[in-house]
Amino acid sequence: MIISGKKLANNLFLAPMAGFSDVGFRAVCAYLGADVTFSEMISSQALKYSSKKTLDMTITHPFEKVKIAQIFGHDCTDMANASISPALSGFDAIDINMGCPAPKIYKNGDGAALLNNLSLASKIIQAVVSASNKQVSVKVRLGDKQSNIAEIVRVCQESGASFITVHGRTSEQGYSGNVNLEAIALAKSVAKIPVVGNGDVFDIQNYKKMLSTDVDGVMIGRGAVGKPWFFAELLNKPYENKIDLIKKHISILKEHYPEKWLVLYLRKHFLAYASALAVKGEDKKLLATSDSIEKSLEVLSSYNKLF
Ligand SMILES: Cc1cc2nc3c(=O)[nH]c(=O)nc-3n(C[C@H](O)[C@H](O)[C@H](O)COP(=O)(O)O)c2cc1C
Repeated sequence: MIISGKKLANNLFLAPMAGFSDVGFRAVCAYLGADVTFSEMISSQALKYSSKKTLDMTITHPFEKVKIAQIFGHDCTDMANASISPALSGFDAIDINMGCPAPKIYKNGDGAALLNNLSLASKIIQAVVSASNKQVSVKVRLGDKQSNIAEIVRVCQESGASFITVHGRTSEQGYSGNVNLEAIALAKSVAKIPVVGNGDVFDIQNYKKMLSTDVDGVMIGRGAVGKPWFFAELLNKPYENKIDLIKKHISILKEHYPEKWLVLYLRKHFLAYASALAVKGEDKKLLATSDSIEKSLEVLSSYNKLF
């Protein structure tokens, strides 16, 4: 795939993940092989007020090759304005969230709720495409209660989306059941724009199954949480000591965020790293309640094995 004039080496995408896709994590995933990294979803409303929390989500890193800012909302003007916000100037492209089923998003008519209102979805895409001089993509689920992915693809491409990412579940499904690869294959077969397949890629077998749908790219979310080296593993590339990679994640964050905030924020990443490093019992508890980044790193280091 080519995005914003940049040819992707491996067509591997890191998913937008609210609360996880911080700049340090994205940078390390990019360093380990992700061609495209997405910001956490950013509220078009919040961008209007340039809150510190929102601006914090817009920090990027030179390791990131193709950087995409994901925005959400249901108002065409707000979405168009958000896409041209100076805060997003460091990103190569804009993605519109039409797949988030979280109640606080969905009930507001944002995210996956737009899959029930494709005429508004189309207007939002068109408004963002005409406002922004960047490529605009859309991330969707298969539908709300039932799959109507062929129609969704048609609406997105006719409205000017340059590619579409399809998480192969309906909103109603949440994360239950398995990802529907047939529906992703259907999306690809009807699409004239590139399709990125997403959902349940946790190992090389799932990755190959996703590729067998003929998608143009593969997006990975949970498979990379606590395991950014998953990208290198998929590409069969050697990577350095895991603790050094975790330290890289942290040191990038330390450049931008205060230690006091990071201590609490990093607990969830440390727990995710703990799962990947098979950290046990009491040590896991220690990470969950840690008030020292150094202490947490010591715990993880004691489980670290060189590959
Ligand atoms: C903690 C978490 C936060 C997420 N936040 C977002 C988000 O901000 N925007 C979005 O489009 N999808 C979000 N998602 C969905 C993922 O991008 C992805 O579509 C989903 O997890 C399926 O991919 P996976 O099976 O590889 O994890 C989130 C998922 C998780 C687990």
